[in-house]
Amino acid sequence: MKKALALLMALAMVLGLCACGSGAPASTEAPVTEAPAATEAPAGTEAAAAEGGLVGVAMPTKDLQRWNQDGANMKEQLEAAGYTVDLQYAANDIPTQVSQIENMIANGCQVLVIASIDGEALGTVLDQAKEAGIPVIAYDRLIMGSDAISYYATFDNWDVGMKQGEYIVEALDLENAGDKTYNIEYITGDPGDNNINFFFDGALSVLQPYIDAGTLVCPSGQTEKQTVATANWATDAAQARFENILASYYSDGTQLDAVLASNDSTALGVANALASSYTGNYPVLTGQDCDIASVKNMVNGLQSMSVFKDTRDLAAKTVEMVDALMKGTEPPVNDTETYDNGTGVIPSYLCEPKACTIDNYQELLIDSGYYTEADLQG
Ligand code: BGC
Repeated sequence: MKKALALLMALAMVLGLCACGSGAPASTEAPVTEAPAATEAPAGTEAAAAEGGLVGVAMPTKDLQRWNQDGANMKEQLEAAGYTVDLQYAANDIPTQVSQIENMIANGCQVLVIASIDGEALGTVLDQAKEAGIPVIAYDRLIMGSDAISYYATFDNWDVGMKQGEYIVEALDLENAGDKTYNIEYITGDPGDNNINFFFDGALSVLQPYIDAGTLVCPSGQTEKQTVATANWATDAAQARFENILASYYSDGTQLDAVLASNDSTALGVANALASSYTGNYPVLTGQDCDIASVKNMVNGLQSMSVFKDTRDLAAKTVEMVDALMKGTEPPVNDTETYDNGTGVIPSYLCEPKACTIDNYQELLIDSGYYTEADLQG
């Protein structure tokens, strides 16, 4: 009887959550509400999962591999800690994400974890969370201009950029360049993503001395962050921009020596453009995330490096934060200076990014269980 009641309650919960998902506006990527199936509820306790509390996890899109991994890791680890999870993806559509968060609040979520599409566009929904006393953890991307953000869990984004810059310096041996000059082009991500300020500026902090010395030259003249930004970090937009650059500045045989790309989805666009429109020596090409397509490119010599951000680590830290907030203890933080969202510094936990190349991908990605050999085949 008790078991039957538990199953019934769990089922009611699932139905309740699904109802909330259906309220979101239509989009090309159907918002997914992922709640444990009734059969997954631990037997013998009355809706035991619900006892831990309900956590809303808002992810930007399923288009990019990493967010699927982030969402899956968060759900798995939160459920293992006894929480019920309302996981939503918003197809990179801001109104969809706003509506999903509204539903999470209405549905009684006790903590919100949000990887925003645009860190400045969530508006009043965050005030609603604050009024309802729901702590908000900004996940990976800082949410700007809102005093409703309690904590920030991310990677050391400045260090991501530095690792990309350092790779270029070493690969071109810029320290010993003498009078030689090297041609470089730049590409970064969505202008609404605060992370690009850290990725791009972090990389430039390493490259600037060589730019100032005239060792690194940018033939297209496209050097400003806003000019080299890519809406939604989209691969096809990156490809289109680079096809233009290659046609306009490199079709006369000018050698392209390096491309600073802030992440793998933009690096992939650059690699596609190089494949279609460039015949010179292949440039040094950076990236970030160790997406499968980019690791394959790395193995095939079409991307030089990526930065590995183990999403399992970020999920684990975020779950620790959620757990502490639920239990009224202190969430883990290791940085209380760097990330000011315009309303003050947001206490943060920064996980450690690692430079990944053909030389260490086996150890970082396969031996650690992040991918299998089979994932990287084909
Ligand atoms: C993340 C990167 C990711 C990019 C595009 C950034 O905010 O930190 O890991 O490549 O968004 O999704």
